[in-house]
Amino acid sequence: MSEKIRFLLDPSDLPRQWYNINADMPVAPAPVLHPQTKEPVTPDFLSVLFPMELIMQEVSTERFIEIPQEVREVYKLWRPTPLLRARRLEKALGTPAHIYYKNEGVSPAGSHKPNTAVAQAFYNKTGGTKALTTETGAGQWGSALAMACNFFDLDLEVYMVKVSYEQKPYRRIMMETYGAEVFASPTDRTQFGRGVLAEHPHSTGSLGIAISEAVEVAATSGGAKKYSLGSVLNHVLMHQTVIGEEALKQMDLAGEYPDVVIGCVGGGSNFSGLAYPFLRENLREGQRTRLVAVEPNATPTLTKGVYTFDYGDTAMMAPIVKMYTLGHGFVPPPIHAGGLRYHGMAPSLCALFDAGYIEAVSVPQLATFEAAIQFARAEGIVPAPESAHAIRTAIDEALDAKEKDEARVILFNLSGHGNFDMSAYQAYMAGELEDYEYPAEAIQAAMQELPQVAEPA
Ligand SMILES: Cc1ncc(COP(=O)(O)O)c(C=O)c1O
Repeated sequence: MSEKIRFLLDPSDLPRQWYNINADMPVAPAPVLHPQTKEPVTPDFLSVLFPMELIMQEVSTERFIEIPQEVREVYKLWRPTPLLRARRLEKALGTPAHIYYKNEGVSPAGSHKPNTAVAQAFYNKTGGTKALTTETGAGQWGSALAMACNFFDLDLEVYMVKVSYEQKPYRRIMMETYGAEVFASPTDRTQFGRGVLAEHPHSTGSLGIAISEAVEVAATSGGAKKYSLGSVLNHVLMHQTVIGEEALKQMDLAGEYPDVVIGCVGGGSNFSGLAYPFLRENLREGQRTRLVAVEPNATPTLTKGVYTFDYGDTAMMAPIVKMYTLGHGFVPPPIHAGGLRYHGMAPSLCALFDAGYIEAVSVPQLATFEAAIQFARAEGIVPAPESAHAIRTAIDEALDAKEKDEARVILFNLSGHGNFDMSAYQAYMAGELEDYEYPAEAIQAAMQELPQVAEPA
């Protein structure tokens, strides 16, 4: 075996198609329901928020969808991204396992998020949209969409969860550098935001509230503005499959095939982007790769949530979908992985988890930062706190392989770098961070607020 550590593809190997899991779903999808009527949503309802091309992708069952040339041209700025073998980490762990990671942190905005931001900006532009609204938690999504809107000449309003706005001024400045307007949510710019502030003047916000504000602005703009979501939806997960399609080729270059594929999950997009092409190989080619989604103990959507119909946002304006949920009123503990604080999860991923095609684990905050630092010291990259959840589990897998003296091949997604997350690292190193386990009683209480939906037969 060579000592090679970087497995690089040629620009001409950039994928030409996205992979659509809907073509191969082994379980039937649940309907998406209108938040008021609770009847299945129509394209007309969705077209207030999204351009028609993205709505068609949302419901498509085509296995592969062509990536437009204009989108591929932008992808070429950083794609194909490198696949690395973490030999130095393997050595530090003394494990017989081989650890590979896909580095999505090399995108200009610092994470996997531009893979869908660029596509969404493109389809909005060609659909006649002039401006977009969105929310952002950690700021990674907002930066990605700000970059993409700038490339396609669209205006952008970003509703940034207040706690992140305060913790991460540099992310805000980055968005402004690309030309976006950024507001600390809850704001007084929306009816919903004003209501939250009236009840909780010191609210630090949540992703659910920020989504409600961004949706309200688009929905009441008379068609001038549309809304863009950075995770959860089918089309978003599909745009991310460029990660897995590249990784399949790169594992081939390395002469190995993963026994286990790992990614952190907030709404599910980076994990699915890497894992769905490998799931296709499981379903259609008889491979047996384990697919492991990792979430924080503090927001244990898959591992402790309830699989049921719930609203996508706090104001109950977004569609009702069947997903694992902690309740749409969930106000997350202020953990430092801002991008993982959503109450729900992508419906396709939930259905696959429920049916046993995907595994899930939750990890505590302190052990996650410990893994992040071990990785940074071995491999040189300071990971995003979100991505560090995948690293924690990759290390645990490698240590388990060591204990069992097994030659396991592990692949994880390094969804972003943590260069803007220094305040989190500082707090960890100063001993100021705590573990936080979300209480089961809080989840039970939140279930009282679920929409009353007759489960379709
Ligand atoms: C670096 C990074 N990784 C992961 C996530 C989680 O999102 P998703 O589950 O959609 O990949 C985020 C979200 O903001 C993020 O910024």
